Amino acid sequence: MKNKVTGFCLFLLLPVAIACRKDRVVVVEFEPNRVFAYNVGKMAEQPMDKAIEQTSAALEVLFGTPDEPKIPEFILDDDELAALVSLEKLDHASGAANETGRGIFRERCANCHGLTGDGRGTAAALLNPYPRDYRLGRFKFKSTPIGTKPTKQDIAYLIREGIHGTSMVKIPELTESDVDALTDYVVYLSWRGEVERALLLECEAIYFADGESLYDPSIKEADPEAFEEQWELIEDYTVEVAEQWLAAADRVIDMPSRDPALVPDTIQEVLAAMNSSGDSPIKDSVSRGRSLFASEKASCSRCHGLAGRGDGQTNDYDEWTTDWTKKFGIDPEDKDSHIPLIARGAFPVRKVSPRNFQEGVFRAGSSPEQLYQRIALGIEGTPMPAAAIEPTEVWDLVNFVRSLVLPAEEKPL
Ligand code: HEC
Ligand code: HEC
Repeated sequence: MKNKVTGFCLFLLLPVAIACRKDRVVVVEFEPNRVFAYNVGKMAEQPMDKAIEQTSAALEVLFGTPDEPKIPEFILDDDELAALVSLEKLDHASGAANETGRGIFRERCANCHGLTGDGRGTAAALLNPYPRDYRLGRFKFKSTPIGTKPTKQDIAYLIREGIHGTSMVKIPELTESDVDALTDYVVYLSWRGEVERALLLECEAIYFADGESLYDPSIKEADPEAFEEQWELIEDYTVEVAEQWLAAADRVIDMPSRDPALVPDTIQEVLAAMNSSGDSPIKDSVSRGRSLFASEKASCSRCHGLAGRGDGQTNDYDEWTTDWTKKFGIDPEDKDSHIPLIARGAFPVRKVSPRNFQEGVFRAGSSPEQLYQRIALGIEGTPMPAAAIEPTEVWDLVNFVRSLVLPAEEKPL
């Protein structure tokens, strides 16, 4: 009876409580990477609450908050590093969704990518593929090799055009200055997220129970040298990730020139050439591409299947999944072992399928140059490797892959 009465009173109080919350200034914070922290904690056999607390405190000094982004001061002191992202653009992209002149990330992207760029927005769990978690610092569709960052142009292109065949559709309302600002903001979130991982991993060897710490400003006065050492480590990781992003522009692969009579601009032209009678350079190229596709050298058919229907090797996971499973000795098939990680924000594992070319959906564009990049460079984070073949052979594969696309009227609904 007593409980019922208390329950009733609480019910009456509820509207008041909500009204009070409305008046209070809500401080929006970045959610820590609890999945990664949990796995590091298990490795280190120690609780991670101090590690998370100190990492978050350091990150706030470096990068600010979702409402007030910052660029680390020592980055701004260095002309080259300071050019990586602009505070003005971060300001434009960040902030509350209804703030005038600000807030486009929260308005347009955070539903899927999450406030921290963890790919865990409110709509994300039901999507396939899952939205990108930027915090790993790995990106799929770019003009640079696996293991290097994308250029800002690569990211801007995807924001402008969307990613075909996924839930990330093109948003026509975005202006060029929105796209620019969002590009910097993606780099910023990814940079922050990678530094967070590095610091959490560093905590593996820090024994908090013995009074050691990663970042503890309260020792500044008593032991300035020890504090200096802590800060230097944090600076080093922050600079290292920034340098990787800045290096991307120099890693863009050369695009060999293309003869449109051999590698036509559109898929329709390839299909028309295949349907025409008689020989043509395009047909010869497609035929060379077909042999190469099934050859041991390129071994495309191993995953994509001989007919390119995506029905070869379909048992793989992408690296956003293996990052919290295999990498920490967790079997992606052993669902029970995932429970503590799912409780901390991981999503149920899913396999990654090789593309079915008949559908004609190429996520990052279907122009010859875009397909050249995908084949020559591979797709980072997925099983799709970079092909170790000559440029002319890549063009033959581009033609072959495009020749498999079913004309619109033959595509299944
Ligand atoms: C409806 C959900 C959704 C929305 C909204 C969305 N995205 Fe995405 N985004 C995705 C999905 C899904 C992927 C992963 C696609 C894949 O893995 O092939 C992705 C991937 C990305 C990538 C990674 C590309 C790569 O090469 O790896 C970037 C960058 C990105 N999105 C930025 C944005 C930005 C900026 C916005 C806001 C303008 C946005 N997205 C809005 C779902 C969304
Ligand atoms: C080990 C497996 C594997 C091999 C070998 C492989 N692929 Fe893939 N490929 C994939 C997967 C998986 C994807 C989907 C990646 C993703 O999730 O975006 C893919 C995607 C693609 C795409 C789609 C790009 C886009 O924009 O959507 C093309 C084109 C492609 N592969 C061509 C090839 C060619 C040509 C070869 C041989 C040189 C090849 N692949 C070899 C697994 C493979």
